[in-house]
Amino acid sequence: MTATTVGKVYLVGAGPGDPELLTLKGKRCLEAADVILFDELANHELLEFTDAKAELIYVGKKPGKHCADQREIEALLIRHARLGRTVVRLKGGDPFVFGRGGEEALALHAAGIAFEVVPGISSAIAAPAYAGIPLTHRAQASSFAVVTGHRVAGVDYDVNWRDLVRGVDTLVILMGLENIRAIMHALLVAGCAPERPVALIQSGTKHEQRTLVGTVMTIAELAERCRLKSPATIVVGTVVELAAELNWFRSVEGRQTMGRFAELRVG
Ligand SMILES: C[S@@+](CC[C@H](N)C(=O)[O-])C[C@H]1O[C@@H](n2cnc3c(N)ncnc32)[C@H](O)[C@@H]1O
Repeated sequence: MTATTVGKVYLVGAGPGDPELLTLKGKRCLEAADVILFDELANHELLEFTDAKAELIYVGKKPGKHCADQREIEALLIRHARLGRTVVRLKGGDPFVFGRGGEEALALHAAGIAFEVVPGISSAIAAPAYAGIPLTHRAQASSFAVVTGHRVAGVDYDVNWRDLVRGVDTLVILMGLENIRAIMHALLVAGCAPERPVALIQSGTKHEQRTLVGTVMTIAELAERCRLKSPATIVVGTVVELAAELNWFRSVEGRQTMGRFAELRVG
């Protein structure tokens, strides 16, 4: 009887949506993988890089079921690696930015499974970039922070909005669309000016990207009126104003976004 060599797991960042934003290393991992575990946010077009014999496992999460699913995903990664397979865990954006990649890496470490992390371009940076919003600008913003907008029902935010409002020029909020009203309220309570510009970028870097611009005071209502859907990134800060001039995605590609931008612009 021969002992099976334990395989390896690659936690690969798929990038924010545009398939061309996958790294070369990520592509190489996909080509070499025996098993790929992927979910909703990773663009499924990337699976075309996989070997025809590779096993593709969808581990998409349903809202409100994060915890149970997460343990199953970790168990699957460990099980396939123990069968001697090369496993890719393909995750939207960057695996270590609100992607629970840290938890998966810890589970692999605890199980004695070798792993590598292949960073991806996070939506926190890419969605604003495709909307023409530089997160920093020498004249207006020397810092930015990426913050979770996710809130467990009934539990208060584990985010220090006051310190963020005081100390950071540009705020990028992920997973915040569902709670946008509460987030904007928290910002106001923390001392943020009501007229501070806010952008909401839906499906950033994809063909269907839409950008909505308003202020801390107006954006929640606009988002509801325009029925913006996840995934969406929220940007708060004066750099949002630059999108009026820098929205290259629409002008290069002739997409709808700037039309929406102009039409929906408030304040
Ligand atoms: C669980 S977090 C994962 C973030 C991911 N690891 C990253 O680095 O982009 C999911 C959130 O990322 C943001 N997001 C992901 N893809 C996006 C996209 N194409 N456009 C805008 N926001 C996106 C949304 O705020 C979404 O709720």
